[in-house]
Amino acid sequence: MTYTSKQTDLPLVVNKVAQLRELLDTVRRRGETIGLVPTMGALHEGHLSLVRRSKTACDVTVVSIFVNPTQFGPDEDLAEYPRTLDADLRSLADCNVEFAFVPSNEEVYCPDHRTWVEVTGVTDPLEGKCRPDHFRGVTTVVLKLFNMVGADVAYFGQKDYQQAMAIRRMVADLNVPTRIEVCPTVREPDGLAMSSRNTYLDPNARRRALVLYESLEMAKQLVDEGNRDAREIAERMRQVIAKAEDARIDYVALADPETLEPVGEITGPTVALLAVHIADTRLIDNRLLEPSL
Ligand code: PAJ
Repeated sequence: MTYTSKQTDLPLVVNKVAQLRELLDTVRRRGETIGLVPTMGALHEGHLSLVRRSKTACDVTVVSIFVNPTQFGPDEDLAEYPRTLDADLRSLADCNVEFAFVPSNEEVYCPDHRTWVEVTGVTDPLEGKCRPDHFRGVTTVVLKLFNMVGADVAYFGQKDYQQAMAIRRMVADLNVPTRIEVCPTVREPDGLAMSSRNTYLDPNARRRALVLYESLEMAKQLVDEGNRDAREIAERMRQVIAKAEDARIDYVALADPETLEPVGEITGPTVALLAVHIADTRLIDNRLLEPSL
């Protein structure tokens, strides 16, 4: 069965929740599985890696494109966030995606919206400290999308490590019947993690942004060489980042990969996470460090 729109060959673009439910009810009645890839658009190879994973594992793939206002702080880039719907739909067509769900703000949030999903613990440090209310917006919209789509599996990127942890926690705590799969970070050939926000970087800032990747690679190298002192490794990472003039560090942390609590001595798998402003663009990245014991 094909669901794509005949005239354009693009995925079927659905704007309304009611229409989406009707279409997906038909899919489910046929006994087919549904994969969901939630995005804010400005799609790049990182997003498309999740889409391809869904396409291989599920019968039907829904990609949502929604720049969720409730996860942006008042001084953040909601207005500037890149919106490239036509190109996004072409990329999804190339991946043979069946449905693009592109709701308006009004379709997602009713004017008297008063309910929030708040995961505590894993959302408290790092991004949670720097971006108050960010995760509340993410978990709320993701649960809404889960309820709208009723997917069997939803795909997220390791690039947003803490976000993936928050969503896993929410799904476990609230008995959400959607399985979560977290896929590896896709990088540019030189190592910069792909991000919709990379388009904000001019060529010079783009070059300086490489210090994020360099610092994570150095952390791995230090661990491979036997260094187990998380504070020293974090300090060495900060020095690498400081090579980029005007880099402003929000955090550099070595943390427990499950709880995100800070690690002192590395005695098992540890995740290095960082958030750095380069020329007014806030970039995040992370890397798993696995000491041979
Ligand atoms: P967005 O930043 O558009 O990312 C959508 C998904 O793509 C997320 O799961 C993110 O982790 C993943 N992703 C982004 N860059 C990636 C990369 N380089 N490699 C692999 N995966 C990557 O994250 C959001 O949107 C929003 O918070 C959302 C979950 C859609 C809720 O609004």
